[in-house]
Amino acid sequence: MIHQRIALVGFMASGKSTVGRALAKALSYSFVDLDQWIESSTGRTIPDIFTTLGEVEFRRIEQAALFDLGQADGAFVLATGGGVVTRPENREALVRDWQSVYLRARPETIERRLDADGAVRPLLAVADRTSTIRHLLEKREAWYTEVSSHTVNVDEMDVPEIVQEVVAWLSRERGRA
Ligand code: S3P
Repeated sequence: MIHQRIALVGFMASGKSTVGRALAKALSYSFVDLDQWIESSTGRTIPDIFTTLGEVEFRRIEQAALFDLGQADGAFVLATGGGVVTRPENREALVRDWQSVYLRARPETIERRLDADGAVRPLLAVADRTSTIRHLLEKREAWYTEVSSHTVNVDEMDVPEIVQEVVAWLSRERGRA
């Protein structure tokens, strides 16, 4: 099925927001970042939501935002948060309402990019970040694959290459429809 809603899924720091913005530009679609959407609609930062309301409440807000955006008109690229796939309802929505693409990164790539991007990730503010990343990635890997129609192994790729790859895949998909 062809959607004009493309969702990028993948682990924290896999490049969803940066790639999403560039992909939206290449397709002349709008760009929405789910975390930023949540921050503007709640008036709180993601770390603040985790600290004051807790992860369960964050997941509730995240699910509501994903469902609302899945019903919105227009053509857009959505950069999801890395944990969006943890809820079965979200996985169903990602298949039903979106054409989802998995940006797949190795744990070493994720660590390198986390150091470079500097954003606070509450789930990784832990003593042993390396094993937390491996553990979470192991748990989520099958979910990222399950919801996605396409996977890009991003480790050795820069942003324009990833965008080109996704655009080429989309045009093959659309040619088939
Ligand atoms: C999370 C990923 C974050 C953000 C929150 C939880 C996760 O988004 O939604 O900190 O559970 O993986 P990014 O993937 O954009 O870092």
